[in-house]
Amino acid sequence: LSSSALPPPSRSYAHLNPETVLTVHHWTDRLFSFTTTRDQSLRFENGQFAMIGLELGGKPLLRAYSIASANYEEQLEFLSIAVPEGPLTSQLCKIQPGDTVLVGRKPTGTLLVDNLRPGRNLYLLATGTGLAPFMALIKDPAVYERFDQVILAHGVRISGELAYANHIRHELPKHEFLGEEVAAKLRYYPTVTREDYQTTGRITDLIESGKIFTDLGIEPLDPEHDRVMICGSEAMLADLERLLEARGFDEGNNAKPGAYVVEKAFAQR
Ligand code: A2P
Repeated sequence: LSSSALPPPSRSYAHLNPETVLTVHHWTDRLFSFTTTRDQSLRFENGQFAMIGLELGGKPLLRAYSIASANYEEQLEFLSIAVPEGPLTSQLCKIQPGDTVLVGRKPTGTLLVDNLRPGRNLYLLATGTGLAPFMALIKDPAVYERFDQVILAHGVRISGELAYANHIRHELPKHEFLGEEVAAKLRYYPTVTREDYQTTGRITDLIESGKIFTDLGIEPLDPEHDRVMICGSEAMLADLERLLEARGFDEGNNAKPGAYVVEKAFAQR
């Protein structure tokens, strides 16, 4: 490990594990992902987020990040935007293998399969970095045990922002333990809003028009049978919650399972 770009933390923090960056991948100039070492004591559920960040000016600057790696994997993975004027992401996007990232010891969150009642089809609806928690969930055997089909819709502005598209389409179906389930049940539905692509338009509009269901050849959304997880910008969550509530879906949380659950895509800056 070489070419560190950032100085190591000046001290240790009780609630944060210092993890070493292993790989960095820049998808576009405003979207990147990275993997880190994982402290042996870190436990989390697929779909949860952790506080992560950097020591800047002698103290930790942290933001909530969904964990994109599955909870049985040896490394941690995160997906981030890079905002030039963002206090954390403008620095985080410069990380190199060998640098240290601080990772909170208590992951939490609502995007858990246990927060949904059993059902037929599971919809994972993401925009932008909202894809991250679903990358962990589509590698979770429990998801395939509980649902007949898993529909992963990812809405982005330009096709370059379809992070992990190749992995989802070509590698996961060959995964040594999950491949068969993935090949049989996972339906990937990427959509692009600001350039031409095989599917275009916002996820909300594709649901309203019914195009997503005809494209996939599946029954339209039904609160009796279908379950939904949403992760994206505040505006996307508000629109989708309205759409789901109007169709009779009730929101679940850690106290009571429901027909859908919601989490903000964090770290917008
Ligand atoms: P659009 O290009 O029409 O704004 P961002 O990168 O800004 O987070 O956007 C990611 C994707 O989410 C874009 O395709 C964007 O579409 C879409 N989007 C933005 N707002 C909403 C919304 N309220 N409902 C559904 N999709 C949205």
